[in-house]
Amino acid sequence: MNTYEIAAIPGDGIGVDVTVEARKVLDRAAELFDFRLQWTEFDWSCERYTQTGRMMPEDGIDQLARFDGILLGAVGFPGVPDHVSLWGLLIPVRRAFAQYVNLRPVRLLPGTTSVLSGRGADELEMVIVRENSEGEYSAIGGRHNTGQPSEFVLQESVFTRVGVERIIRYAFELARTRGGRVCSATKSNGLIHSMPYWDEIFAEVAAEYPEVHSEQCHVDALAARMVQHPDRLDVVVASNLFGDILSDLAAAVTGGLGMAPSGNINPPGEHPSMFEAVHGSAPDIAGKGIANPVAQVLAAAMMLEHLGETVAAQAVNAAVEKVLAEGAVATPDLGGTSTTEELGSAITEALRAG
Ligand code: NAD
Ligand code: IPM
Ligand code: MN
Repeated sequence: MNTYEIAAIPGDGIGVDVTVEARKVLDRAAELFDFRLQWTEFDWSCERYTQTGRMMPEDGIDQLARFDGILLGAVGFPGVPDHVSLWGLLIPVRRAFAQYVNLRPVRLLPGTTSVLSGRGADELEMVIVRENSEGEYSAIGGRHNTGQPSEFVLQESVFTRVGVERIIRYAFELARTRGGRVCSATKSNGLIHSMPYWDEIFAEVAAEYPEVHSEQCHVDALAARMVQHPDRLDVVVASNLFGDILSDLAAAVTGGLGMAPSGNINPPGEHPSMFEAVHGSAPDIAGKGIANPVAQVLAAAMMLEHLGETVAAQAVNAAVEKVLAEGAVATPDLGGTSTTEELGSAITEALRAG
């Protein structure tokens, strides 16, 4: 029987509630599909920061290195500045483990209350391939606080050839296995160094994949297209910041942040990959027990897929679809009155082998 060592970092706010439900679903999947999950839970969070001055211990990365996968809830909560909490946990993990792909599949699931509800799932099936290790997310820059009206800050972006080329190549390889189309999102009309450089590398890599349809889009126009004609998109490749923004937008048009999973992938498999919902800790609903656990359950299914438990992953996806389609158990964001726990249990009970 295959055994997988999994690190769970529930983190902050609703991250804790949805991770409990995702673990419940995965434990049931392990029973049904004959594999073992060995969980180790870490209390790394803003609460821990308040007590110890650190989001994770100094050797936190070393502690995570031995795991087959990481399931992360959400990081960040009022009381600790976001740049402190996120740069103290989430971003260092992504970078230390070279999780340079942030894979964010977007599907129209049944039972959604989105602007697209009423349309079929076949009308929207895309994936955002977000660069996850460099770009606009950079600590390079500085404040020039002079107290004068002329004061300013500088925030640098870093686009390396290796970094840009590998994410674009990943997008093309992925496109080959699915719809055969890649759209690259840039803003070369406004950002005159980084984005034209990205476009050049995109054109170079595209030339190696003549069978894949490629196009370059301005990210602003793409945002509009994602709402009005999402059916014309398949693989969308974007820089760290643009991919971040586009993934919340895509989540919104497919039923909200409660529905959108993501994987921080280290493609060579030399380091653990990390799975999490696209959403954050949702302080506005934290502690109320009403967060939608679907995004985190789907992220957990991505982890199963990544571990090679493909049949179990498909069964988890099918269980989610069944419960959403029936509509009897739904959290408030889906128009219902159920709790996080009730929706998690309904998915667990809907899980079937074979
Ligand atoms: P958010 O995603 O936490 O919340 C945005 C809105 O979506 C809120 O109204 C929230 O209630 C709703 N929402 C999100 N997830 C939901 C769910 N599962 N069910 C129902 N409603 C849901 O974004 P934010 O408010 O900008 O960020 C809150 C905190 O989370 C910040 O500290 C931020 O930095 C952090 N954050 C962390 C991650 C991460 O750990 N990967 C991701 C995004 C934001
Ligand atoms: C996400 C989040 C993070 C990001 C933040 C919290 C740093 O928004 O995972 O989408 O932008 O990467
Ligand atoms: Mn985000």
